[in-house]
Amino acid sequence: MIEVKSVSKGFAGNAVLKNISTAFYPGKVNFIIGRSGSGKSVLTKCIVGLMEVDQGEIFFDNRNFTILDRWDRKDIRQEMGMLFQGSALFSSLTVEENILFPLQMFSSFSKSEMLDRVNVCLKRVNLEGKNRLYPSELSGGMQKRTGIARAIAMNPRYLFCDEPNSGLDPQTAIVIDNLIREITYEFNSTTIVISHDMNSVLEIGDHINFIYQGELSWRGNKTEILHTDNEALNNFVFPSKFMQQIREKLRG
Ligand SMILES: Nc1ncnc2c1ncn2[C@@H]1O[C@H](COP(=O)(O)OP(=O)(O)OP(=O)(O)O)[C@@H](O)[C@H]1O
Ligand SMILES: [Mg+2]
Repeated sequence: MIEVKSVSKGFAGNAVLKNISTAFYPGKVNFIIGRSGSGKSVLTKCIVGLMEVDQGEIFFDNRNFTILDRWDRKDIRQEMGMLFQGSALFSSLTVEENILFPLQMFSSFSKSEMLDRVNVCLKRVNLEGKNRLYPSELSGGMQKRTGIARAIAMNPRYLFCDEPNSGLDPQTAIVIDNLIREITYEFNSTTIVISHDMNSVLEIGDHINFIYQGELSWRGNKTEILHTDNEALNNFVFPSKFMQQIREKLRG
């Protein structure tokens, strides 16, 4: 479990995160949603330690990450897997070399153990045998799946996915969503997904955090989101007449 306690963060006097408290649960797909500029990425960067909070604390399974120095954070960092926006594969490395990267950085596996692990991960994302291809030779969906394979290489306890569906067609997006859900349940990982994709939220959102103007405006699950009277959230999830009609149907 990741706990965020009264976290605030600003830049040059401009408050971006305002006293945010929430929790992200193991074996669940936890979403952070909100409009562009609402502070989703800043919150995520604070959680993974790419940015320092101004106030508040972040706990990883009761370990206070905020008070640890760089060196002591290393243990927790090694338990994180990250799927970056746009997959962010190394273009000069093959699929295999991309997935080997975190293993070479963090594991004490032998070369053959690492290669075994690469192949297990490739199989898991349905890319068996694609070891020698370069990112430029893959479709967008295959690149995302390679990114997921790399993110799960170290068996992460905490999995972060930033816009995993951006740029994918709706059916491929569903393949990626299902993969994220299956991996989360299989590894019991605490998964945090940042997304604009309402289909994903309504499909796999076990816990949803809605950030509005830097504040945590709403928390709930994918059923509760249909019945919320939070106006900002309703406008975000069901922005058009068409979507509002769908909501009425879903409410039943
Ligand atoms: N390094 C930084 N320095 C100054 N301001 C920043 C920095 N990073 C983010 N901000 C500001 O913080 C606010 C929130 O940005 P953030 O990237 O968290 O938005 P977001 O919710 O992730 O939006 P999007 O959906 O567009 O990715 C924005 O106003 C942005 O300009
Ligand atoms: Mg962002």
